[in-house]
Amino acid sequence: MSANQFNDNSDLGVGIGLRIPHYDHILSETPPVEWFEIISENFLIDGGRPLAILERILEKYTVIQHGVSLYFGSPNEVSEDHLKRLKELVQFTKTPWLTDHLCWGSVDGQYSHDLLPLPYTTAVAHAAAEKIMRVRDYLQVPISVENLSSYVEFTGSAMSEWEFLTNVVEAADCGILLDVNNIYVSSVNHKFDPYTYVDNIPLDRVAQIHIAGHSPHDRFIIDTHDRAPIDPVWELYAYVISKIGHTPTLLEWDAKIPSFDEVHKEAMKATQWLDQTPRTSQVERRQAVSGK
Ligand SMILES: [Fe+2]
Repeated sequence: MSANQFNDNSDLGVGIGLRIPHYDHILSETPPVEWFEIISENFLIDGGRPLAILERILEKYTVIQHGVSLYFGSPNEVSEDHLKRLKELVQFTKTPWLTDHLCWGSVDGQYSHDLLPLPYTTAVAHAAAEKIMRVRDYLQVPISVENLSSYVEFTGSAMSEWEFLTNVVEAADCGILLDVNNIYVSSVNHKFDPYTYVDNIPLDRVAQIHIAGHSPHDRFIIDTHDRAPIDPVWELYAYVISKIGHTPTLLEWDAKIPSFDEVHKEAMKATQWLDQTPRTSQVERRQAVSGK
């Protein structure tokens, strides 16, 4: 496997985020789930119950690592200790690809613990791409970057978010984790057409999709992951699938988490669109979308 492929050519379908309230159910019932997504940072530890449970999950399921602290847009480097632990986890899980956000969140060793939007400029895009490539070279795993939901924008931005995302992934030659709920949330908050976003990014680079629920708050809508996706988000998802075909899809549900069965049932709604197209690997999708 080459680390600058976007994934390992797997043709996974619908996945579920691995969350603590569901551990017992998953271990005792072995539900028919194709794959689980973990938050890498929850397992960057020396032993203990979380890793013991993860080891049991790995005996039965494919696990894909998703992260929240590489901050590809932050100017400072990821700490050596963090990268070393992350690489050990990559080797432990054998994750076919790894994802994190196109954002910033740290400066001079201070961490905001938030995923903050970037100024959309050529210089920032190139710096983010360089960082993605350095991390990929070290971890030796394909990387896809996720688009954020945001509530503010920089007046210094010189391009749209979709142009910025395109510049980054093409310069880094990496994949996209396309969060269609994040596109929808930002489109409402910043008053753009979410379909214009989808139509103007390199869809042949989409290695994985996120769907999620959000909530209204005053003049904004907030990416809360505390409920099921609304119909317009599913419609945007259906549009993406109609353009790129069968793609690994993950439902994020991180607050007010209901039973495993309820989360699973909601996630499986994706199959009504996924099953209309044949299962494809990333290479096949890329050829279908772009002819490359
Ligand atoms: Fe997401």
